Amino acid sequence: MSGVEAGGGGLDQGRFRAVLGHFASGLVLVTGMHGDQPAGFTCQSFFSLSLDPPLIALAPGRSSTSWPKVSGSGSICVNVLAEDQEALARTFSQSGVDKFEGVGWSTSANGAPRLSGALAWLDCTVEEVHEAGDHWLVTARVTELESGSGQPLLFYRGGFGSFTA
Ligand SMILES: Cc1cc2nc3c(=O)[nH]c(=O)nc-3n(C[C@H](O)[C@H](O)[C@H](O)COP(=O)(O)O)c2cc1C
Repeated sequence: MSGVEAGGGGLDQGRFRAVLGHFASGLVLVTGMHGDQPAGFTCQSFFSLSLDPPLIALAPGRSSTSWPKVSGSGSICVNVLAEDQEALARTFSQSGVDKFEGVGWSTSANGAPRLSGALAWLDCTVEEVHEAGDHWLVTARVTELESGSGQPLLFYRGGFGSFTA
């Protein structure tokens, strides 16, 4: 397969990214403990899925080195990023670096890392992991949740921004 063609539909991958980039979203850091080490990655593909039972969904890339560490214990924390946390979003999108260096965090009720200064926190237990192309489609049950204060960090057309009503 050529580097610019998506499989099956023959769509150009650059065009796919550019068009889908018109969907603005917030950003989360998905975290978990790998033994005694915190692990995490920046994630845009996250949404509220079900109220009863309380489920969320997210889509980690199948090439993510952090996702197996984050999810190994079965307990994860979804940290919704605040507008002043762009640097964290960038750091946690890099592979193979010490992402938690200098980062404030505590241990949430389910044992996963809870990042200081986030806009909201969701403690979750991973329920189902489905293959979905080059990503996993993961559902997780929310066991505890809390919101802080502030404004969200947003992502739109490849750039970070903040919310204005
Ligand atoms: C704005 C933004 C959104 C991202 N969204 C996702 C996502 O939804 N799913 C995902 O697996 N990776 C996403 N990434 C990439 C990961 O943060 C990270 O680069 C990837 O997991 C590789 O790092 P790792 O090897 O430590 O896992 C995003 C990165 C950025 C900058």
